[in-house]
Amino acid sequence: MPSLSEEERHELIERIVSFLRDDLATHAESEGRDLYPHVARLLGDPRATKPMVYDHDAIRQVTARLQEADSQDVSLLQELLYGLHALITVHFRKEEELYLPLLDCKISERPDGPYGFSADVHQPHVLNP
Ligand SMILES: [Fe+2]
Repeated sequence: MPSLSEEERHELIERIVSFLRDDLATHAESEGRDLYPHVARLLGDPRATKPMVYDHDAIRQVTARLQEADSQDVSLLQELLYGLHALITVHFRKEEELYLPLLDCKISERPDGPYGFSADVHQPHVLNP
């Protein structure tokens, strides 16, 4: 980041913000609307997936700060990018290592079979009607 010209840094931040606001945020909205309520019901408590929603909010807030940051302020840009990396990495680990195994257990306990979740939480989710 420090070795980039200001123009290169600005373009890079725009590409990152575009990915976070368009691709990742769309994915998070679909999880919040379609997946998490269903998982919370399976786990027996509507609050069971609230921490994941809080993660999405935190990612959105840091993304907004990144978008507004001065492209000359390299240390702030690095702070925000490292923060986003940590938030997103931990969020994905929670989905893959905590929620999916719980979901697998709950689904295998059901005599009427799977609920139609994608096996990969980072792929589009399709629920059976
Ligand atoms: Fe998520």
